[in-house]
Amino acid sequence: MTSRPEQDMETNVTAVSAADMTDARKGGNTRKVFVRTYGCQMNVYDSERMTDVLAPEGFEATDDLEDADLVILNTCHIREKAAEKVYSELGRIRKVKEERAKSGKDMMVGVAGCVAQAEGEEISRRAPIVDLVVGPQSYHQLPSLLEKARAGSKVVETEFDIDAKFNHLSERAEKQVLKRPPSAFLTVQEGCDKFCTFCVVPYTRGAEVSRSVEQIVSEAERMAAAGVREITLLGQNVNAYHGTSPDGAVWGLGRLLRRLAEIDGLDRLRYTTSHPRDMDDDLIEAHRDLKSLMPYLHLPVQSGSDKILKAMNRRHTRDEYFRLIDRIREVSPDIALSGDFIVGFPGESDQDFEDTMDLIRQVGYGSAFSFKYSSRPGTPGATMDEQVPEDVKSARLAALQALVAEQQKAFNASRLGMTCDVLLEKTGRNPGQLVGKSPWLQPVQLDAPEDLIGSIQAVEIVDIGSNSLFGRLIAGQDDLGRSGRIPAPAA
Ligand code: 5AD
Ligand code: SF4
Repeated sequence: MTSRPEQDMETNVTAVSAADMTDARKGGNTRKVFVRTYGCQMNVYDSERMTDVLAPEGFEATDDLEDADLVILNTCHIREKAAEKVYSELGRIRKVKEERAKSGKDMMVGVAGCVAQAEGEEISRRAPIVDLVVGPQSYHQLPSLLEKARAGSKVVETEFDIDAKFNHLSERAEKQVLKRPPSAFLTVQEGCDKFCTFCVVPYTRGAEVSRSVEQIVSEAERMAAAGVREITLLGQNVNAYHGTSPDGAVWGLGRLLRRLAEIDGLDRLRYTTSHPRDMDDDLIEAHRDLKSLMPYLHLPVQSGSDKILKAMNRRHTRDEYFRLIDRIREVSPDIALSGDFIVGFPGESDQDFEDTMDLIRQVGYGSAFSFKYSSRPGTPGATMDEQVPEDVKSARLAALQALVAEQQKAFNASRLGMTCDVLLEKTGRNPGQLVGKSPWLQPVQLDAPEDLIGSIQAVEIVDIGSNSLFGRLIAGQDDLGRSGRIPAPAA
């Protein structure tokens, strides 16, 4: 894993801001909901939708746990110890709940996300304070599930019915009059049919399902109307997107991006996470054709060894990956490439690891996430022979991360002196400072007035930090038309 804190899958925590809620409450009887988000951007999106669904029920978001009438942990299960972390967090919450009880206040506790899906009833058995266990496809049912839980029954809802979820969530969202931040996520696809042998996603999120074009376009239009200027389309395997269009044809991600690029006010589009096998010509060409499609691509390869790629069931070779990168760079020479790597997959020899290092040297990444292989119960990798010892995994991870850090530094340094468009997103740490995002997804810090938040400005890059760039606003020139985290979902 790289050193950027916002990319740490296990510790990322989001409390959805109270400012995001509407006043469409029932009868002024306001209750507070605290949502803690673990894991990838898809969970961030889901957490926002959960607060949308709860708003008309009278729930307002809080980032103060002690103040919460309802606590929801939106969990991630992709790597080791996720469930253990949830149980220990539930232990802490139990104490807060007991404290609140002393002053006669109740607190309901829900566990959502992939740990909920994987553990099911086990959660309320091991942690009796949990009133509600709800899998990723059932968030639209939160109000009725809460009702049941309030009536005293332990509720466990882990059905897979993603269509119902999205239909219902959209309907709800339509009633909201939310002011959104300038950059937002939009889930277009969920689940995965690839069955990489290390990965739990096909089991926790289920089969691959795409939302309809119409639903996505209308959600994107609403977002643009609410002030969103950049949308990142999300999916565990987002470039496998195959949604139905209004005339019944099936659209791929390239076609969807072309349609979204027509929406007024939507200046920037991104998508994540992609699988190399699903990078078709239309999607690659969209990087050439669409000014609003940002020059950044997260395209995990996981390993540079053909033997390991095969054992991982990645369904492509190292050479095919190189050829794909060549095609992408042909249409978008300046693109920032990012990836995911796993070290220490069962059977990975020193030579296999060296092949991965060699692939990284040949490709040249702007950033990358890397992980030690962790055995996930129920996946084929868990029962493979030749599990790699922990100390070997640690040494390989350190070497790989050092190489990626070097490449990231070089990529950042290559931006020095450039003028690029920066989407200004929020205030910075110091007074007078704003933080924005470059076309290549790097954070950019600069001095600028607060009223520029939400605008895209021409910025000269004047200095380079370890994780971010420092810029100078070029007055009077916005939207020059030049082409610019919480971790990505799987793939
Ligand atoms: N062990 C280590 N890393 C994993 N990932 C997914 N499953 C595992 C696992 N069992 C990583 C992959 C994936 C990213 C989201 O998490 O690199 O692309
Ligand atoms: Fe699917 Fe990605 Fe998991 Fe592979 S790693 S099974 S492509 S979600």
